Amino acid sequence: MDLTVSGPRRLAGEIVAPGDKSVSHRAVMLNSIAEGQATITNFSPGDDCTSTMVIMRALGVNIERASADDGSGDTLVVKGAGTNGLREAEDVLDAGNSGTTMRLMSGILAGREFKATMTGDSSLQSRPMGRIIKPLSMMGAVIRGRENNTLAPLEFDGGDLSGIEYDLPVASAQLKSAILLAGLRAEGKTSISQPAASRDHTERMLSAMGADIRVDGLDVTVGQSEINCVDVDVPGDISSAAFWIVAGLIHPNSEVVIKNVGINPTRAGVITALQDMGGNIELVNERDVAGEPVADIVATSSNLRGTELAGSIMPLLMDEVPVIAVAAAMAEEETVIRDAAELRVKETDRISATVDWLVAAGVEAEARDDGMAIVGSGRIAGGTFQSQDDHRIAMALGIAAMVSDDPITVVDAGCASISYPEFWDELESLGGIVD
Ligand code: S3P
Repeated sequence: MDLTVSGPRRLAGEIVAPGDKSVSHRAVMLNSIAEGQATITNFSPGDDCTSTMVIMRALGVNIERASADDGSGDTLVVKGAGTNGLREAEDVLDAGNSGTTMRLMSGILAGREFKATMTGDSSLQSRPMGRIIKPLSMMGAVIRGRENNTLAPLEFDGGDLSGIEYDLPVASAQLKSAILLAGLRAEGKTSISQPAASRDHTERMLSAMGADIRVDGLDVTVGQSEINCVDVDVPGDISSAAFWIVAGLIHPNSEVVIKNVGINPTRAGVITALQDMGGNIELVNERDVAGEPVADIVATSSNLRGTELAGSIMPLLMDEVPVIAVAAAMAEEETVIRDAAELRVKETDRISATVDWLVAAGVEAEARDDGMAIVGSGRIAGGTFQSQDDHRIAMALGIAAMVSDDPITVVDAGCASISYPEFWDELESLGGIVD
């Protein structure tokens, strides 16, 4: 599906952010291997989290899903199978486009008494899996993958798990979580040292479920634990909200309100970065929902200036770089992004994908090995650009179209459904024109 998108004279309205993808994955996975029953509200409507739910059902977990008619997010009721209650699936498990599903599920499938095979779409089959196979194998799991155990499909074939001490080579929440989840069933303690903080939803949820887990700065230790189901009211996804925040800032006549956004500090780097660029962003009604901080966010027209993004803030905003790049193009002066090599191994190579469309849209931009430089001029020409089948690239293009000189045609725009099926409808609700 290709969509042609253009911006309105005034961009205004209120949006309720869809349920957070990272929290939704964890709420299903952790409750599935816990004792008891849990209700998950505001579950992410995106295809990625459905992949996780379908895999857990295939492993024998009873999960009922009820979609809300009023658009308030899906509700799931999960009957926990307990620590050893998963059973062999009849077929290959399909993680679709979802790196979080594949990597976190690997931690759950490692060292089970049954065999399992997990695959994904062509994007996921090209993403690095050696980073999880290595530590899980050190723990005793038997896992094989293509190309010398670095790529999916992955085969899991038993093994007895014991704890390890492991220095993460990258600040990856998926890698950290895979090891922690295996650590729940491993003999002894499993300790992880991180090079920088990454999202900590797994640690928070495991702690709420009664796991033996300790966080000390960048170090996390988990001991063998049985966990108990907890209800989760999933906060709105800041990674989805980021598109509307940038739209509000770059449009010259705007006021966009995004309600119910999770602002966990390990996720909120995009707010800090955009405020540093001069963005008028106000957080109101700050509160705590099920152990996660939440706020409503108001973004209004701003005169943005370029910035430098590097170092420890990068894991806190990595998924938002495609839309921060749109803000950078509309800002005065240069924005330089470094320490972002992880972008090259996301759903697509997001450094190339972003710089390619920016350059084609007349923006002075250059790809670097670990980031990019963008010289803002306050103008983006229109045209036809590839989403590369990457949901965040597709949505960033939609936001660019709010201010571009001519309409933007987004090729394969339907991939937004990976995290945000309502994205294009919401864009229209704010005044955007979508054909
Ligand atoms: C995620 C972690 C991040 C992020 C991804 C979701 C998670 O990846 O990019 O979209 O839910 O754990 P890393 O594991 O590279 O941090």
